[in-house]
Amino acid sequence: MNRYDNSTYGERIAEVYDELFPDYEADAIDLLEELGRGGRVLELGVGTGRIALPLLKRGLEVVGIDASEPMIERLRKKPGGTEIEIVKGSFADLAVEGEFDLIYVIFNTFFGLRSQDEQVRCFRRVAAHLAQNGAFLIEAFVPDLNRFHGNQTVRAVKVSEDMVQLDVSSLDPVTQQVSSQHMLLSEDRVRLYPVKLRFAWPSELDLMAELAGLKRKHRWGSWEKSDFTSESKKHISVYIHSV
Ligand SMILES: C[S@@+](CC[C@H](N)C(=O)[O-])C[C@H]1O[C@@H](n2cnc3c(N)ncnc32)[C@H](O)[C@@H]1O
Repeated sequence: MNRYDNSTYGERIAEVYDELFPDYEADAIDLLEELGRGGRVLELGVGTGRIALPLLKRGLEVVGIDASEPMIERLRKKPGGTEIEIVKGSFADLAVEGEFDLIYVIFNTFFGLRSQDEQVRCFRRVAAHLAQNGAFLIEAFVPDLNRFHGNQTVRAVKVSEDMVQLDVSSLDPVTQQVSSQHMLLSEDRVRLYPVKLRFAWPSELDLMAELAGLKRKHRWGSWEKSDFTSESKKHISVYIHSV
């Protein structure tokens, strides 16, 4: 591949995204609705509206940012899709108007910003657009370097009679960047869906928040608000203005 930018992941995966990720956790919608307080919410990397559309149904005003036109197109074609205001661009820049009661970025999407600079910039832009008493929620995996051997790993996600789904990844432990391919293999074709990310440990995210004038209010291990422990595979962290 010659280039990979903020829109590449969405441009390539849009055709199968809803097939690969058809579901969401009901508890996720409940928690986002609670934090949205009946007001205006912003999703970073809104994609095909998997989460934004159920929130719209709960009566919230939903705005979404996404860099990928094919993902946005799919969202617009769904029932309610045109009621969500979409801003096309990078959520590192957050080129939106006004303030929000809740800004959220889920499903590891924050790590789509592939440098520490961009991630810090995003936190600062979020802080500038959070209403007083507003919340910024991140759902992200806890990095697990044990799954890499020689800085690479292959995982069989799904194996059936007709199809194999593999995730193939290589790691740069210094820059904290991972390059992956979601691969779909069937008898007549191989499809490749690239994804590149920069992961950060929860403690690094807290530091970024502090640089942006935010502080952590909650950290849970699941959408059901379970405790975050050393066994947790992911975290749901909520930040608010520090003063
Ligand atoms: C894994 S999908 C998540 C979509 C949706 N949030 C969900 O949970 O189903 C990531 C989305 O973020 C978008 N994206 C990735 N990096 C981005 C960036 N820097 N700025 C804006 N959108 C980005 C992709 O186009 C894609 O639609």
